[in-house]
Amino acid sequence: MSTTQYLTRDEVGILLTAAAHAPSMHNTQPWKFEIQGPVIDVLRDPERALPVADPGGRMSRIGLGAAAFNLRVAAALLGHETTLALEPDPARPAVALRIFLAGRRVPVPGLSSLYGEITRRHTYRGPLLAVPMPPVLRHELTVAAQAEEAELDWLDGTRRTQLGRIIHDADEREVHDEDRLHERMQWIGGRRDDDGVPAAALGPLPQTPASVRDLAAGFEVPDRGRASFETKAAVAVLSTPAEDSHGWLLAGMALQHLLLTATAHDLTASFLNQALEYTDLRDQVRTLIGRRSWPQLILRCGYPADSAGHTPRRHWNDTLGTRVTPEGSEPWNK
Ligand SMILES: Cc1cc2nc3c(=O)[nH]c(=O)nc-3n(C[C@H](O)[C@H](O)[C@H](O)COP(=O)(O)O)c2cc1C
Repeated sequence: MSTTQYLTRDEVGILLTAAAHAPSMHNTQPWKFEIQGPVIDVLRDPERALPVADPGGRMSRIGLGAAAFNLRVAAALLGHETTLALEPDPARPAVALRIFLAGRRVPVPGLSSLYGEITRRHTYRGPLLAVPMPPVLRHELTVAAQAEEAELDWLDGTRRTQLGRIIHDADEREVHDEDRLHERMQWIGGRRDDDGVPAAALGPLPQTPASVRDLAAGFEVPDRGRASFETKAAVAVLSTPAEDSHGWLLAGMALQHLLLTATAHDLTASFLNQALEYTDLRDQVRTLIGRRSWPQLILRCGYPADSAGHTPRRHWNDTLGTRVTPEGSEPWNK
């Protein structure tokens, strides 16, 4: 078998469909993929960046890391062990991650068991049931994050209250920031066929202030319901020792590892990230977690009281920088 025929078209479809189901900020899906033989490159797509809310590309790299984790899970199902290189090619900085598929065997234990959770996982922005998360599950999610070299810090009541104040400040700023508002409106609300967050996935508005982010804050979305939210949610900060592009990619892998693990236990999560989108507020969150590491994501977790609205995805073929033919693959620009 030549290297170009290493994967069949169906296998490429399985791998890239899994990758496409990863979470990304505003569902921009900021990735493209190139496949040559047993090597899969995950690239940043500059046309899908968020220059106002994410000028340094931190969030988009977290999305790329999450997509890479899904690729590893799908590869494990197909029987491939994977190894990974972060930013492997200085001559091509757009290549964020390179995944090497090793020899074909039976499904790789561990990772492959998460495959069924990839399409079950959705960001859930509705109210949570008043059923606490068992400590053993918190621990399991913490271990999942640690497996990708990240930390997960579950906040106690006092620190949750402090975080609430920081988030309140972020909410205040966000609705008065015209540039951010304009950028969000391009991706959020309405009907969406391939990307962005449709109105149906926004969840109801809380009747009283709640620990949930309204992605449509500052603009009207017609026919949005209201609901009563839980008073106490489990909130955790995902952080990395390094604050650089490697740290962000690892944060994305850790995020997806813990989200798929949560899904396997019928837990859901949503994001309270507005506090991390302003440098000074992010610094306050950093203080809250002891300043040893860099906060990358804030998650609210629990058992959903309702079902999550789904977000769309582009077809995997539209994310592929390598054209796949039944005989094998060829460079996409040939
Ligand atoms: C880095 C990152 C930041 C995100 N920030 C938020 C956020 O602050 N608020 C929110 O509601 N969702 C946030 N999300 C979730 C995305 O909106 C969600 O992943 C995307 O719309 C796709 O939907 P899905 O997760 O249901 O597949 C974030 C996701 C990522 C990866």
